[in-house]
Amino acid sequence: MPATRIGVLTGGGDCPGLNAVIRAVVRKGVQDYGMEFTGFRDGWRGTLDGRTVRLDIPAVRGILPRGGTILGSSRTNPFAEKDGIRRIRETLAKAEVGPLIAIGGEDTLGVAARLTDEHGIRCVGVPKTIDNDLSATDYTFGFDTAVQIATEAIDRLHTTAESHMRVLVVEVMGRHTGWIALHAGLAGGANVILIPEQRFDMAQVCAWVTSRFEASYAPIVVVSEGAVPKDGELVLKDTSRDSFGHVRLSGVGEWLAHEIERRTGHEARTTVLGHVQRGGTPSAYDRWLATRFGLHAVDAVREGDFGKMVALHGTRIVRVPIAEATATLKTVDPALYEEAGVFFG
Ligand code: F6P
Repeated sequence: MPATRIGVLTGGGDCPGLNAVIRAVVRKGVQDYGMEFTGFRDGWRGTLDGRTVRLDIPAVRGILPRGGTILGSSRTNPFAEKDGIRRIRETLAKAEVGPLIAIGGEDTLGVAARLTDEHGIRCVGVPKTIDNDLSATDYTFGFDTAVQIATEAIDRLHTTAESHMRVLVVEVMGRHTGWIALHAGLAGGANVILIPEQRFDMAQVCAWVTSRFEASYAPIVVVSEGAVPKDGELVLKDTSRDSFGHVRLSGVGEWLAHEIERRTGHEARTTVLGHVQRGGTPSAYDRWLATRFGLHAVDAVREGDFGKMVALHGTRIVRVPIAEATATLKTVDPALYEEAGVFFG
């Protein structure tokens, strides 16, 4: 009889490194502590519907470099489902699962915090998101890979922009924070970087674009999907909401290219990087961080330290209350954005 069977799930948007966490959790838990694991399919959906996945050492072999998640993911919110909590309890009892390791972003972890604090369903959280917008951790895995992909795309766009002397607008993900835009924009030598934290002035954007052409170069404008013009609203193509109430972002890139063309007379095109930023193999850094998060999450379960999330502070992995990590978004510091301004125009 194993000491504890532990449930593992991955929720929210997938990101590179999820499999590295799962592998580390299972390897350490089984080898060092004699634990047993059960995976739940598609995030909280699997705990509601009772869909499980075998999770032993053979099941996690070879998954370290694989993108996505072997468990599947969804944006299911059990608190928005009829009898959600009762159904989770039933699933856990049937699968003989005690504690849960929930790997997710703000929404998935928010559920984990409430389940622990309000319903006695013991959870440990592992932070993931390409957006890097979770407070209480310096970085989330997935972010480094996304930045690398966006930077490579910007590098490529420079040459085609120069050939045609066009403006190339690159729309990147990040939801309501500009981490991906700022890091990839800086690394890729963008001439304009627009982030959600600072409303942008179209006249200023056009002045930067024009000055770049005056220097006989073609401008690259990196815009975060959640960036908002000073005198306008969030630009959206689709206003439907998921079960956590989030709208689907995207559209500002197209809008911006059109506005730049109209105001400056320079031809402009848009590239929306979209889910390419979330797919494929994780970077070495993300594998390293995800693996360490997994190892430390198992220790937290073993010590009965529930309601906590593992987090990166400098080079140390620490534990913080999940509620603390999900209370506020980690946004781009204005001083950081200002630093990048040297390269605008
Ligand atoms: O939170 C990660 C993220 O990729 C955001 O950057 C983006 O806005 C959103 O998820 C896209 O969600 P979906 O995969 O549901 O289209």
